Amino acid sequence: MRRNMFTFCQNQPSPQLQQIPKILSNRSVVLPHSEEHPIKIINAYKLIQELGRGSFGQVFLAVNIMQQKFAMKISPEKMAKYTKIEAAILKRLEQFDISPKMIEAFEFEQQYCVVMSLCEQTLADFIRQDISINQRRTLMKNIAEQLNTLHENEIIHADIKMDNYLLLQKNVASSVKTIDYSSSIQLPATYFPTKLQSRYFKSPEVLHKKSYHKQIDCWSLGCLFFEIVFQRPLFPAKTDEMLCLQQSCLLGPIEYGDEQFMTRSTSYLFSSYSEQLTSLGYTEKSVLIPTSDVLDATGREECYPRTLSNLVSKLNWSDKLKNSYLILLNGLLQYDPKLRWTCEDVLQSDFFNSL
Ligand SMILES: Nc1ncnc2c1ncn2[C@@H]1O[C@H](COP(=O)(O)OP(=O)(O)OP(=O)(O)O)[C@@H](O)[C@H]1O
Ligand SMILES: [Mg+2]
Repeated sequence: MRRNMFTFCQNQPSPQLQQIPKILSNRSVVLPHSEEHPIKIINAYKLIQELGRGSFGQVFLAVNIMQQKFAMKISPEKMAKYTKIEAAILKRLEQFDISPKMIEAFEFEQQYCVVMSLCEQTLADFIRQDISINQRRTLMKNIAEQLNTLHENEIIHADIKMDNYLLLQKNVASSVKTIDYSSSIQLPATYFPTKLQSRYFKSPEVLHKKSYHKQIDCWSLGCLFFEIVFQRPLFPAKTDEMLCLQQSCLLGPIEYGDEQFMTRSTSYLFSSYSEQLTSLGYTEKSVLIPTSDVLDATGREECYPRTLSNLVSKLNWSDKLKNSYLILLNGLLQYDPKLRWTCEDVLQSDFFNSL
């Protein structure tokens, strides 16, 4: 017993301990990166691997001293203010259980870190599998309920898209969670940014730099509901101008009350793309360009006319279900935000009957 104590207390570090890398501060240690070793230790967490990265920082798999796993979002100094807003929203929403639970948030070496519960699967990976229509409907209903909760709490998410949904438990549709509140707007707001929403999911109001409100999320929801079923984006546009064209091709020329909707620049660029399209033999209406690459490659044979009803009619579902899905998509994909379905409208849709 005595001998053991002595061994433990001796000053001479063991050869193993001598290899421990340099300590950067009293809380951070950088270790060689390998499967077994963490990338870095921050506070009481070892960062094991990167889970994802976006415009606001990196997200790591983190393990605490109890070997419990978490996700840690680390934002650099210049993005920290957005991640602080995100942390405040996560805290506010905790009672509703619509997002991963926030464990803690702290500043660390000019970075801002948010520790939250770890999700096991991305929505994109889940829907790529051969899952049933009922699972897809369950997903959509949960997503609409979560967005409804945000809107009831006067929060515009402002970045509704496939990548911002994760499943807490692998292959469990009902465990879907909303993430990424770094662009979110708490109402009433004094400032409405003009750079928001990811391109494929960008609403006409934001695209054409008009004033906007919660309904921008409902447009994105329509795009997401399309992608959950068809497993490809509705508007895969490489540029805002192409997005404008793709929206017009699918939904017709934009009309927005009495206002001139397009700005001078979007209207100019729209006409130039529109001419390209006409030269391929397509009219502006009733054509959905399958991918942005099609226009690039001017592969005419691939660019056949599609409408939402064409696409939906090919689904292997009952007529009733197809019809209610089409009505749902059309409700969400209204140019005019006043006519566009709200989350409450969505939740009353026949598409979710008997779920
Ligand atoms: N709780 C979590 N569990 C597991 N993975 C996560 C978690 N939170 C985030 N991720 C992963 O990290 C990625 C980036 O996270 P997040 O969307 O919050 O960052 P961002 O910088 O705001 O991204 P964006 O580019 O969308 O603005 C996610 O798409 C997801 O793959
Ligand atoms: Mg994101």
